[in-house]
Amino acid sequence: MKSILNYSHHLLEEIISPGETVIDATCGNGNDTLFLSKLVGDTGEVIALDIQEQAIDNTDRLLMEHNCSNVSLVLDSHENIGDYLFHDIEIGGAIFNLGYLPKSDKSIITKGESTVKAIDTILKYLKKNGRIILVVYYGHEGGQDEKNTILKHVISLDQKQYSVLQYGFINQKNNPPFIIAIQKK
Ligand SMILES: C[S@@+](CC[C@H](N)C(=O)[O-])C[C@H]1O[C@@H](n2cnc3c(N)ncnc32)[C@H](O)[C@@H]1O
Repeated sequence: MKSILNYSHHLLEEIISPGETVIDATCGNGNDTLFLSKLVGDTGEVIALDIQEQAIDNTDRLLMEHNCSNVSLVLDSHENIGDYLFHDIEIGGAIFNLGYLPKSDKSIITKGESTVKAIDTILKYLKKNGRIILVVYYGHEGGQDEKNTILKHVISLDQKQYSVLQYGFINQKNNPPFIIAIQKK
């Protein structure tokens, strides 16, 4: 069985092609941004957002080490993602890694309301069969609230328009992360 990290990447690999535009909604230390950058290649683009300057700097450094020049880094909340998208753009896929920046301030966390707003905006631009992947960490303070808000929202998405998958290990202790994947039909 694939780990949470491997499965989140696998779900994107299956549907993203070189040349597409994709989103890392929480770039953090840049690991998912780097993965997406390689997937879409020189002819594609990654739009990567974070609200912390430290995260943008860390991601920038990682991308430079790997000679990636196809990423637009945005210091802003993902709830404003619509401000950075042309009206007729098609998004191949997106990833959200929820929670706090590892080894950093644990009080700066993703929040349910803004995450849901970002999901709904990206869904409007998502290509047919495109996917939004959410890796839900919820063991920290505030994490349970975000988890509940997101689950309530994605469970209500119209099944005629979207397939929504949940993937996780149910015998692990200490609130293990899980994946929510939304695919546009
Ligand atoms: C779990 S970390 C992401 C880890 C990242 N995927 C990586 O590979 O290192 C979550 C990140 O979300 C960021 N964040 C919190 N609220 C945000 C928001 N509203 N918009 C964008 N990023 C946000 C945090 O600053 C933090 O860097």
